[in-house]
Amino acid sequence: MLSPTLFPLFCALFLCLPVAVIFTVQRELTGVVSPEFGFRSLSVFSLYSRNVPDASSPAVPIRPIIPKDDALLLRLASLVNPNQPPGSTRKLAFMYLTTTPLPFAPLWEKFFNGSSKELYNVYVHADPTRDYDPPFAGVFANRVIHSEPSQRYTPTLAAAARRIIAHALLDDPQNYMFALLSPSCVPIRSFDFTYKTLVTSPSSRKSFIEILKDEPWQYDRWAARGFDAMLPEVRLEDFRIGSQFWVLKRRHARVVARDRRIWEKFNQTCVREDTCYPEENYFPTLLNMRDPRGCVPATLTHVDWTINDGGHPRMYEPEEVAPELIVRIRKTRPRYGEDGINGSDWSANERTDPFLFARKFSPEALEPLMGMARSVLFNDSAGDDDV
Ligand SMILES: *[C@@H]1O[C@H](CO)[C@@H](O)[C@H](O)[C@H]1NC(C)=O
Ligand SMILES: *[C@@H]1O[C@H](CO)[C@@H](O)[C@H](O)[C@H]1NC(C)=O
Ligand SMILES: *[C@@H]1O[C@H](CO)[C@@H](O)[C@H](O)[C@H]1NC(C)=O
Ligand SMILES: *[C@@H]1O[C@H](CO)[C@@H](O)[C@H](O)[C@H]1NC(C)=O
Repeated sequence: MLSPTLFPLFCALFLCLPVAVIFTVQRELTGVVSPEFGFRSLSVFSLYSRNVPDASSPAVPIRPIIPKDDALLLRLASLVNPNQPPGSTRKLAFMYLTTTPLPFAPLWEKFFNGSSKELYNVYVHADPTRDYDPPFAGVFANRVIHSEPSQRYTPTLAAAARRIIAHALLDDPQNYMFALLSPSCVPIRSFDFTYKTLVTSPSSRKSFIEILKDEPWQYDRWAARGFDAMLPEVRLEDFRIGSQFWVLKRRHARVVARDRRIWEKFNQTCVREDTCYPEENYFPTLLNMRDPRGCVPATLTHVDWTINDGGHPRMYEPEEVAPELIVRIRKTRPRYGEDGINGSDWSANERTDPFLFARKFSPEALEPLMGMARSVLFNDSAGDDDV
C-alpha cells in the first residue's frame, strides 16, 4: 500500500511520464533529422504549447523537428492545432511533387517575387532516386523535404502527398491552405489574386478538391487492388475520383494526417496497374467521407483531358502558348462534382471559381510563358477587355 503522503507524488510522476517519453523520442530523432531545413530549434514544446500566447513573440519562430519516419511524421502532424494561432498571418503552402528539376522555376520565382515571405511557404518532395540538375535554387533552395521514391500505378504518389502535407503542417502553424502542384503546373494569376482567392475570400473557408462520382472505370479503379480489397471501409458507393491536384484547408490537411483506416486500404499494392491511380482516388474519397460540405468539389488547376495520351492529358507545346490560350483557360469554368451540394449553403450551378494554375505545359514553353509573365500571366486584368 502507498502511504497517503506518497500517493500525490506517485500520481504526479505518472502524469509526467508521457511528456518524458515524448521528449525522449524527440531527442532520439535529432540524430536523424534531415539537415536540409536547418531547423532553428530542437524544441518539441512548440508543438505542444501552441495554444499559449507568447507575449515576447520571438523574431525567429521556433519550429519543431520533423521526423523522417512516415508513421511518426503523420502521428505528430495529426496532433497539430487545426486552427492557426489567433491573430497570426495566414500562409499559403505551395507543395511541389516532383521527380525532375522544376522546369518552370524561373516563372515561379517571378510569381513569388515582390510578395512578402510572411504570406507563403514552399516545400518540395523530390524522389531521391532521380537526378536534379540544375539543383533547386532561389525560392526552392533548401526546401526539399525528406522524400521517398514515387512511381505511377502505385500508392507511392499519394504517400508522397501525405508526407509533404504532414511536413507542412508541422513546419509552420501559420500554414492555412495547402496547394499541391506538379512540375508541369504553371501559375496563371498573380500571387495577390491567388492569395486572395485561397486565403482571404469567403470561399477560402473550404478546400478545393475535385470529387466526382460515377465516372467511367469507377468499378475497375475501386477493384484495382483485388475484388473486395477495399471492403468494408470503402464501399464502391463511397469511392470517388478527382484530379491529383487540390488545395486543402488546414483542418482537412489534418484529416489526411490523422487518417489511417482509409489509407490502409489505398496503400495496398494494385493487382491491376492500368486502373491503379490511388493519388486520384484516395483524397477525394477520404474528404467526401469525412467532410463533403467542407469542400468545393472542383480543382483550381486547369487541365485538358479532351486529348488523352496514354493516361496523360494534353501537353501544351511552345507554339500554342500565347496570351489567347491563357485568357481562354481563365474563362473556362471548373467542372463541379455533385457532392456537398445537398444541404450545403451553395449550389455548384451558381459557382464560378477561377482557375489559379494550369497544366500540363511542355518544359520548352518556359520561354513564351516568361515573355508574357508580366503582361498576361500575372496581370489579373489581361483578357478582361475582349469578349
Ligand atoms: C524581382 O523584382 C525585382 C524588383 O522588381 C527585380 O529587380 C528582380 O530582378 C526580380 N527578380 C526576379 C527573379 O524576377
Ligand atoms: C504502405 O505500404 C508500404 C508497402 O507495403 C509499407 O511499407 C508502409 O508502411 C505502408 N504505410 C502505411 C502508413 O501503412
Ligand atoms: C439530396 O438528398 C435527397 C434526399 O436525401 C436525395 O433524394 C437527392 O437525390 C440528393 N441530391 C443530390 C444531388 O445528391
Ligand atoms: C494588363 O492587361 C490590361 C488589359 O488587357 C492591359 O491594358 C495592361 O496594359 C496590361 N498590363 C501590363 C503591365 O501589361
